[in-house]
Amino acid sequence: MINPRLETDLNDYPFARLGALIADLPVPAQPIIMSVGEPQGPVPQFARDVVSRDLATSNRYPPNQGTPDLCAAIVAWLQRRYGIADGVLDPARHVLPLAGSKEGVFAIGTVAVPPSKDGAQPIVMIPNPFYQVYLGAAVLSGGAPVFMNADAGNGFMPDFDSVPADTWKRTALVYLCSPGNPQGAMATLPYLQKLIDQCRRHGAILAIDECYAEIYNGAAPAGGLQAALAMDETGGRDPFADVVVFHSLSKRSNAAGLRSGFVAGDPKIVAMMLRWKTYGGVQIPIPIQNASAALWRDEAHVETIRGEYRAKFQLAKSILHNKGGYFTPDGGFFLWLDVGDGQAVTRRLWAEGGVKVLPGGYLAREIDGVNPGDRYIRVALVHDLETTRTAITRIAELL
Ligand SMILES: Cc1ncc(COP(=O)(O)O)c(C=O)c1O
Repeated sequence: MINPRLETDLNDYPFARLGALIADLPVPAQPIIMSVGEPQGPVPQFARDVVSRDLATSNRYPPNQGTPDLCAAIVAWLQRRYGIADGVLDPARHVLPLAGSKEGVFAIGTVAVPPSKDGAQPIVMIPNPFYQVYLGAAVLSGGAPVFMNADAGNGFMPDFDSVPADTWKRTALVYLCSPGNPQGAMATLPYLQKLIDQCRRHGAILAIDECYAEIYNGAAPAGGLQAALAMDETGGRDPFADVVVFHSLSKRSNAAGLRSGFVAGDPKIVAMMLRWKTYGGVQIPIPIQNASAALWRDEAHVETIRGEYRAKFQLAKSILHNKGGYFTPDGGFFLWLDVGDGQAVTRRLWAEGGVKVLPGGYLAREIDGVNPGDRYIRVALVHDLETTRTAITRIAELL
């Protein structure tokens, strides 16, 4: 017998559904793929050089807990990025390198969801729409997903004040994504602090996915660690108690294939993430850890990449005007366009424009008869400026 949680509860991953949606259409002559959030720019040369240089270390098992140098580079970056003073974060206790943030947002399910909470199946709160791995983690850890709509009505950030007390009591884990995939909304510092407080009061762990934290159009997004540190009341516990954040080099450094990210925050949770990794995770190869340390220490390439995304948003705005309700998101690299019927428009864009996008409804679940993504398409601005110009022009013609 196969685990039905996997076989039947997790059988509609968005890209499989997209494949089925357009399976009957001929493949266009020069397709432009904007459905996947995979930056197409080059991995910085200095990181590639480190990987080649250090390949000879591959006869050794890499340390699960990360090399001391990588952990130190991550802490130094967190300090710079979020204005955290020296000595607050301990590289050995507060951070753990991961094989991409995906590993972490999945593993936190196993770490945070107990067999029962308040005498019932524990709840995992998930923003809606959402990165699908949160659901995988909730379901496979035995949690009950509760979807929290993030739509235009609440600025694309879930309203946790609306959660009933008995739901909070059963909640073991709360996911937040800021900047959000797909809509690019950013949680403010007060929003984060209120949510941290709510989680602490209800014995829930807050997992904040910050993998788009370096891609933003205006001011840099606030972070969960920064928010926790600025709160004064932890009852003598670690300042990051009950909070973890996830980061990645995939978007920040055009390095999705390196599989490199980290979790940081509550040392108890970080220790359990390490235990999880010891039993079931994968170590990050030493050359990749070394290249990652170099990438976290460098800001120049990140500024270049951020500038490239900004130019693409300006271009999209100049071509689309207000078609599809165009708005420039605070962060991330997706257009979230209100096209009325996301699936129908996805088919047309593929058949008539040769552009592959993702129907927004595939990233969300229906609540009270409404899927908050159904009217939208998600367009990943991951190509160079000229390819982006071609694609957006074709989209504008067809909207
Ligand atoms: C919201 C979100 N979280 C996490 C990830 C995982 O990224 P990675 O494992 O490459 O760090 C992605 C990838 O697209 C994402 O969109």
